[in-house]
This record gives sequence, C-alpha cells and structure tokens, in this order.
Amino acid sequence: MTPRKILVTSALPYANGAIHLGHLVEYIQTDIWVRFQKMRGHQCWYVCADDTHGTPIMLRAEKEGITPEALIARVHGEHSRDFAGFNVQFDNYHTTHSEETRFFAEDIYKKLKEARLIKVRAIQQHYDPVKQMFLPDRYIKGECPKCGAKDQYGDSCEACGAAYAPTELKNPYSAVSGATPELRNSDHYFFRLSDQRCQDFLRLWTQTNDHVPPEAANKLQEWLGQPGENKLTDWDISRDAPYFGFEIPDEHGNRNTGKYFYVWLDAPIGYMGSFKNLCGKLGLDFDEYWNIDSQTELYHFIGKDILYFHALFWPAELEHAGYRTPTAVFPHGFLTVDGAKMSKSRGTFITAESYLTEKLNPEWLRYYFAAKLNGTMEDIDLNLADFIARVNSDLVGKYINIASRCAGFLAKLFDGKLAYGNVNALVEDALDSGKTVATSYEARDYSRALRDIMAIADRLNGEIAVAEPWNLAKDDTKRIQLHDICSRALHGFYVLSILLRPVLPALTGRVARELFGMPRDFQWSDLADTPHRVNAYQHLMQRVDQKQIDALIAANRESLAPAPEQQSQQRHAEHQADVASTAKVSHGDTPSISIDDFGKVDLRIARIANAEHVDGAEKLLKLTLDVGPLGTRQVFAGIKSAYDPATLIGRLTVMVANLAPRKMKFGMSEGMVLAASDADGQAPGLFLLSPDSGATPGMKVK
Ligand code: 2FM
Ligand code: ZN
Repeated sequence: MTPRKILVTSALPYANGAIHLGHLVEYIQTDIWVRFQKMRGHQCWYVCADDTHGTPIMLRAEKEGITPEALIARVHGEHSRDFAGFNVQFDNYHTTHSEETRFFAEDIYKKLKEARLIKVRAIQQHYDPVKQMFLPDRYIKGECPKCGAKDQYGDSCEACGAAYAPTELKNPYSAVSGATPELRNSDHYFFRLSDQRCQDFLRLWTQTNDHVPPEAANKLQEWLGQPGENKLTDWDISRDAPYFGFEIPDEHGNRNTGKYFYVWLDAPIGYMGSFKNLCGKLGLDFDEYWNIDSQTELYHFIGKDILYFHALFWPAELEHAGYRTPTAVFPHGFLTVDGAKMSKSRGTFITAESYLTEKLNPEWLRYYFAAKLNGTMEDIDLNLADFIARVNSDLVGKYINIASRCAGFLAKLFDGKLAYGNVNALVEDALDSGKTVATSYEARDYSRALRDIMAIADRLNGEIAVAEPWNLAKDDTKRIQLHDICSRALHGFYVLSILLRPVLPALTGRVARELFGMPRDFQWSDLADTPHRVNAYQHLMQRVDQKQIDALIAANRESLAPAPEQQSQQRHAEHQADVASTAKVSHGDTPSISIDDFGKVDLRIARIANAEHVDGAEKLLKLTLDVGPLGTRQVFAGIKSAYDPATLIGRLTVMVANLAPRKMKFGMSEGMVLAASDADGQAPGLFLLSPDSGATPGMKVK
C-alpha cells in the first residue's frame, strides 16, 4: 500500500473565548479521523491555529486594558491546554497573527487582483463618532423596525424574530460608546464572486467529486441558484482602521493604507500559514501540498454554519489565485445538551476547562461524541443521563469488563501466557472486523464503527458468561478450558483496543503498554498479530457518577442576566403551563396538604417508549409511556420547546398515573409527566425528572 499524504484542518477558534463542548465536537471528530489515518500508516498532518483578528478581539483587549497581542498570546495558551486535555493532538497549533499567514493573505489578494477579481466600491456604513470607528452590524443596537422592541441587534430582532438591515433600526446607538451612529462612506475592497468565472467554477466544484456531502451540496445549489441566475454577490474583504489584522498593501507594497483584510479573508488562509510553519519545523515541502497540481489530499472539518465560507469563498479564492482546492469539506451539526441549545443559566454551556477541572475523564466525552457522530450535518445531542448510561454500560460494562474478568486468571495461573486453539480463525475474524470498522471510520460514521465494535464486545461477554471462568478457576481439572476462554477473551480485548484507539488514545495506550507489554501504541496492522502474554490487570477506567455531572452543571451555571441566546428560550416559558405541576407549586404561599392528600397522587416510573411531534401543536410532544404492569399510556406534554423527541426515547421519567384522562384537541391524554422549571416559569429551561439508575417502569414513587 502506498501511504496517502493527507493534510487535515479543523476550523480555527476565535482568540477571545473559551473552548466549550460545542467546539469539542469538531476537534474530537477530526482528531479521531486523523488518528485513524495515522494508525493505518498514512502520512497525515493535522493543523489548526487561533483565529486572532477582527473587531471583537480588538475591543475585548481594550476592555481588559491589554494589547491584542497580549490577549491572543494568553488565549493561545488556554486553547492549547484545553485541546491537549481532551487528547486532541495537532501536529501544529499556530496563530493567524503570523508572518506566514500575512504572506499568503497578501499573495492570494495580489493574485486575485491580477486576475481582475478584486474591485473597489464605496459603501455606506454606520460610524461611531465618539469611538471614531466603523461599526460592524453586531455593534449597532436600537429599536426593532417591526415590533419596536428596544435594544435589538443590527441584523435581527430577538423579540419578534424579524430580520433587517442595520440601517432600518429605529433610534440606533453604538453598543461600544452609546453614541448615535452616523452613516459615512468608505471605499471597500470586494472579491468579485459574481464574476462568471467564479460562478461557473463553483457550480462545478460544489456538485462534483464529492467535494461536499450530498446534503451540503443541496444547500450550496440553493445558494448558487440555477445557471444564469447569478445569485452570488461580491464579498466585502476589507475593513477600515482601527482594526486588529493585516493592512492591505497598495500596488507598491506599502502597508500603511488604513485598509485591513477582513478576519474571514485571512482565517482560512491561516490553514496555509499553520502548515507553512509546520513545514519550517519539520522540513516538509509546502508546495507538494498546496501547488495547483498537488497529488496530496486536503480536508477541512467545519461546522455547518461556516459552509458558505469554506465551500464557496475559499475554493473560489484558491482556484483563482493558482493554488489547489480542497479535496473535500466535511461539515457537522451543532451540539445540543439534553435536547436544548447550550445555556449558561442552565449550566449546560460547559467549558472544556471546567470538564477537566471537575475531573471528568476526557475519553468519556470522546466516546460519547463518537457514538453520536455519523458524518452528516445532523445536530448531535449530549443527553446527560444517556452519557452516564452509555459510558458505564459500553466502556466499563462491556469493554473493560472483558479484561478485568479474565486477565487476572492468566497472570495468576498461567504465568501471563496466552494459549490459542485455532489462531488462524481468530486472526481472520479480527481482520474482517478491521475492514468493516475501517470503512466506517473513513466515512466519518463513527457511530456505526462503535456499534460494530460493541457488537464484538457483546459476543465476547456472552461467551465469557457461558464459560464462567470464575467457576472454572475453582476446579483444577478445568485448567485447559479456563486457559482457552481467558486467552480468547484477552485476544478479543486486544482487537477491541486496536479498533478503539482513534477514539480512546490514552486508555488504549495504557492497554498496549501496561497490559500487553508493548513498547508503543497500537497500529491497525497489529490486527494481524496475536498477543502472547499479558501483565497483571491494573484498574483502567472509573464509572461516571451522577454526582460528577451535577458538579459540572453547577460549575457552569451562571445566574447573570440572561444573554440573548437564553432570552429566546425564555419566550417558550409561557407555553409550559400544561407541563405537569411545574412552576405553579413553587410559590411560598402554597397551602400545606396532608400526607393523605399526597397519597392520592399515584406517581409512577415510566419509560418513554416513543416521543413524537404533533402536527399543528406548537408546544406539545406526544409521548407513549411504558408503565410496566400498568400498561402503556399516551400523554401529551408541553415540553416541545425544551426537548428533541428523538432524545427522549428510552429514558425513564416520573408520571402521574391516576390523573383523570383529558380529551385534548389532538387526542386523549392519559396522565402527566413531571418536569421542573423555575418559579412562575420565568427562568429559561424545563427539566424532565429522571429517577436514579435501578428504577424500573411501573415502580411507585412515594
Ligand atoms: O466561526 C469561527 O469560529 C471562525 N473563527 C472559524 C474560522 S475557520 C477558518 F476559516 F479559519
Ligand atoms: Zn421585533
């Protein structure tokens, strides 16, 4: 096999904020793919950098009383620490504020200019006369032109959802100084995306050679329109001083023009800058990867929200500046937590740092995300109850369990030696599994890879359960059977560890070294080998404890005034009236009831067997509840604003089982599920109750 030469990137995080679990979906997704390629013997480089330019970073530094350079240096350290904490292993983590990125930004700009794809046009923009700067849309606030709501952003209204231009806002003010902005003219530089050459190129590029997955290709087709429609407009790539970024040189190469490259112009160029920097460190050939006739592969992992930049602007820039274009762009969906958008007030806007500080194992999260990632743009949900259940059941209960139950007998009774009956059959099976799982990893369908891997673990655990090595060990005459089952179990554990290495690099690294005594990490080709010895088993992984999750949520909960993303959830609070007992019971003046009164309520554990949207219902989900001996119940619950139905299926909750059935517009509701929310439903969020593990459907709650 000729090793492939592959260059991989993840989107560059802005240098003014902490890494959170939403970011980590992408870095973990990419890291798994890169580790898989490396394990297969390919030459694969994974580069990234901090995205350091732009107005928000400039203003943030000013607010902190430091220079932008000092801010980005500090954040670079924080980001590098967080990524390393989650075993995201870049070959280079650079910065866009670098000479390499400046060089390629100027180079690409110059070549686009030579190709007559840059034009200068005066535009009218809001200007803050106090701060003496042009204001990006985000920094202009005012009253919504549609509903009159105050303090709305320059592009859309949080209160009524209307979208508009910042010039339409009534009584606009600068969010930086509070001054009334003036409209001023300024010359801006545009990349002429509307040029026929760009349109023709992109129409072809986006629809051929699997450059993007089919669902993304459909989206791009919409943006591009039909041939002749010319829907793409020119892209404004310049910003006026003051701005933190690279100044755009004039035709003589002078750099004091007062015009800067817009942050989104130099951000993807940061991929080149970071790789160039790596080439300097390792003596790699930059041109081999970026020349127009490059035979290497180039992949960008991104969030679906920045598809436009990566699948339209970026390939068009590269193509017309004479560089190679990406082999493919891989967009993924957003992260939700417990079926809802991450929220600071709920404590689900979880930072990478807090996860590590609270001593949660990063490989739990890697495993959980991998189990949910399937290579599409679907959003993925971190359901915290499911997180605990899945990690404990799959990783500890299925995978680790194999070694913890069998390795000890080998060490104690057989001097650590493994003995195989039909070794060829074992190796053949391992290679077959390796092929199937490799296909899934390659296609970024980690969810499928892990299903197949866990099926192997299930089979092995089944064999172990039948053979009962713990009983065989009590009988000296059963040594051969004991040796056989433990050897097969440990061989299986070896295979599983190889297959899991891209997802669990630290854990499988320990398995290779401590248990199998190897001098290195596993390679994919190790599937063709069999281990001959094991060392004494040492504890490998802790179970997740609900208390750790509670502490993590508490550490991330902020009781500040709600940020805009939370206000939108607050709007839904008014729809929660029919969700069980929720808010209305929490007033201080609620009258007391006797224990007998309470005893009249038949509370039961129920499993949500199905959950679905109801046509025409704004706030309801239809739940089918399995209440054990009480049978199944259909319940309409007003929890649509907080939960994606798919994430509810299978989980346990608490229901009122003896509530008189109610006829609703959409059918009979035969009970009620219990959920918590803040007093009067004012705080954002709605939290379905869950019992501790061990409860089963039908159990009484007293
Ligand atoms: O959306 C973001 O967070 C950007 N900082 C991503 C940049 S990706 C690339 F183009 F640099
Ligand atoms: Zn409005």
